[in-house]
Amino acid sequence: MARFAREAARLADASKFAEQARRAAEAAKHLDASKFAEQARRAAEAAKHLDVSKFAERARRAAEAAKHLDASKFAEQARRAAEAASRVDREQVVAEASRFTEQAQAAIRAAKNLAELERLRIEYLGRSSQLTEVKKLVRELPVEARPEVGGVANRASRDLEDAIKVRAEELAFIEREARLRAEAVDVTLPGVPYPKGSLHPSMRVVDEVVDFFVGLGYRVAEGPEVETDYYNFTALNIPPGHPARTMQDTFFLDEGLVLRTHTSPVQIRTMLSQEPPVYVVCPGRTYRRDSDPTHTPMFNQIEGLAVDRGITLSHLKGTLAAMARHVFGEDVKVRLRPSYFQFTEPSVELDVSCFVCGGSDPKCKVCKGAGWLEMLGAGMVDPAVLEEVGYDPEEYTGFAFGMGPDRMAMAKYGVADLRLFFEGDLRFLRQF
Ligand code: PHE
Repeated sequence: MARFAREAARLADASKFAEQARRAAEAAKHLDASKFAEQARRAAEAAKHLDVSKFAERARRAAEAAKHLDASKFAEQARRAAEAASRVDREQVVAEASRFTEQAQAAIRAAKNLAELERLRIEYLGRSSQLTEVKKLVRELPVEARPEVGGVANRASRDLEDAIKVRAEELAFIEREARLRAEAVDVTLPGVPYPKGSLHPSMRVVDEVVDFFVGLGYRVAEGPEVETDYYNFTALNIPPGHPARTMQDTFFLDEGLVLRTHTSPVQIRTMLSQEPPVYVVCPGRTYRRDSDPTHTPMFNQIEGLAVDRGITLSHLKGTLAAMARHVFGEDVKVRLRPSYFQFTEPSVELDVSCFVCGGSDPKCKVCKGAGWLEMLGAGMVDPAVLEEVGYDPEEYTGFAFGMGPDRMAMAKYGVADLRLFFEGDLRFLRQF
């Protein structure tokens, strides 16, 4: 048992002794010497265990006196012994308590982390701690010693609880600081470069054209790249066996499916899915069995279709002229040349004045001295096509056009070989 508790226990024993001595004094008053002698002997016995030699001596003397039956002297001795016993070492208990408290506080202040602090709390304030033991002993103390010793024990508890609270806050702060330091981000470190991609030149043109038409109120429509023969040809007024089919070097798949040779089937799909008016622009990939510097098996197209009451060829020309200015610059002019498509009547091709030389340079690399660039095929929607999708050609007219954004990008960016666009060579693509 630690010293603080041991001192308290000793005090408890002393109180037992004092009680014995008091009873002896009581007996002495009645001059019952033999009974008193017995009491005094017992007190002396108790005092021995206490190692309180002073009391023991006094008690022994009291017992001695009793033998001579000098009752009054004895009574005095016993009274003094009782008094001394009740005072026994109370100061020592208090001193021990404050020493204990100081040591414990020092240990608490030195606790290195919250786990160690919790261990100390259990050691000093837990159920089997010294303080708890002392508090249990208080009941056995002489009445006059109880408030003091009890107070000392309670104060020690309170002091230790306070010390633990203070240290816990300190440790929490220290641990938080350490964590923040460990997790600190060095905002001065150079960033990890994030490779930036760029748009494919064809897609830049697609975006510009689509943006332009969306700005006019057109809707974007898309269709499948694997198309039925019906949508790709028949519905567009190119029935099976028609010689016009040979113009388009088609990739045929099984069961009447083809890789679409143009985006025109999206016209049919759109008109079948809605009533007029129709204003759509349809970008997408198309396929033909073709490969040379200006043809690739896969290429892009942008289809346009406007069907409404009173649509005329001049609407077509005005719309496409505005589009050409948007993509190639404010100064470009357009011209229409007669052409032929099965699904438009009349059919035209649209040329754009050379946006590089404006027609003034016979050695111009872009227009090759022609002054004009072929841009797209277009025309008024053939009444047979309107009928095919259930529109009344007497009530509605429309125009349609189909352009090649890859060709437009070639002209715009001065690229001589279309195949470069689709080989995926980063040295080429990074230039855009
Ligand atoms: N689909 C035609 C082609 O690929 C272009 C076109 C579209 C012509 C719309 C007229 C109207 O050549």
